[in-house]
Amino acid sequence: MTRRIFPAHNTCYRKIVMPNASPEFNTKRSFLKYLMVFVSGFIAFFSSWGIARFVFSGTGQKVDRTISKELFQSINREKPYFIPQAEAWIIKGQNLSESVAFDDRCTHLGCRYKWNQDKDLFECPCHGSEFDIHGQVLRGPATRHLPRLYLTEASSQMLRISEH
Ligand code: FES
Repeated sequence: MTRRIFPAHNTCYRKIVMPNASPEFNTKRSFLKYLMVFVSGFIAFFSSWGIARFVFSGTGQKVDRTISKELFQSINREKPYFIPQAEAWIIKGQNLSESVAFDDRCTHLGCRYKWNQDKDLFECPCHGSEFDIHGQVLRGPATRHLPRLYLTEASSQMLRISEH
């Protein structure tokens, strides 16, 4: 503990370190020390947890990348169609092999982009990246195109959206 006292000549005052501080002071000091350690650890834990979650699993939830054939049949071919549970956009072609899908995460920093019907392109709200209907970058800061996903048969009722 430091305490400011006036010297005898009253010309200035200086800090004096108290080597034998009272037990009450030591308790407060210890408490503050442990509080600082706890708060720092708390911040460090949640920061690294958030980063790890972002890097390794995106949303941290398992994504169901299947859709029913019935839903696929009902999709309009004129514009991209969003499948929320699959977290993907589908662009329906003449048939399954001509249809493509894109993960709904921007290739810049992972925000969810949306289809802008007026501009006829995908637009990311975070930093303004734009992609055409084929997933090609029209405007940065994103530099990578949207990776293509494929639609394949999963069962007699269902289709799978996957990277291969
Ligand atoms: S995350 Fe999409 S532009 Fe930055």
